[in-house]
Amino acid sequence: MQILLTEDELREGVHRMTSEIAEHYGNRPLTIVGILTGSVVLMADMIRLLEMPLRVGVLQARSYHGPTTTRGSLIINDDLMPDIEGREVLLLDDIFDTGHTLKEVETRIRRFHPADVRSSVLLYKEGRQEVKMIPDFIGFKIPNEFVVGYGLDYEDAYRNLPYLAALEEEDLKLE
Ligand code: IMP
Ligand code: MG
Repeated sequence: MQILLTEDELREGVHRMTSEIAEHYGNRPLTIVGILTGSVVLMADMIRLLEMPLRVGVLQARSYHGPTTTRGSLIINDDLMPDIEGREVLLLDDIFDTGHTLKEVETRIRRFHPADVRSSVLLYKEGRQEVKMIPDFIGFKIPNEFVVGYGLDYEDAYRNLPYLAALEEEDLKLE
């Protein structure tokens, strides 16, 4: 594994992005909706830096990979979502890769009639986007590598690393 962003660099980037968010919303009430599971570390760090009246919710998005190698269909579970009708909502995810996840989650969220929906991601993988959508707040732009740590996983491992690392060929055949 190769370290891409150290703990200090991550902290600095999260502070920078959170300041932009704080500046945008001012003291207006905000509902942050984190997309499970990758956003949990970012969410924990971010919400403690925000001072406006804040609500926190989560939803789960995961792609179901069937027997084919094509991109699996996305399963969104919004059972745990708080009431967002008429509220300003900020979606939070770990990484924007093709963009399908965030785009579909945004579409789903709008069914609950929020006043506004914006999105923020820790990481934006360059050159991978397949949708017409750009997150409103981005922590870091990174090259097209598979990364883990700070909430991001490979087969559900490595989420607890305090830094961000790029997996190398040999790491991809985890036991
Ligand atoms: P998208 O729908 O292609 O934008 O993919 C978004 C989801 O894929 C993220 O929420 C992650 O769960 C996962 N993902 C994409 N790239 C990576 C990566 O480099 N490491 C870990 N997870 C990733
Ligand atoms: Mg994820």
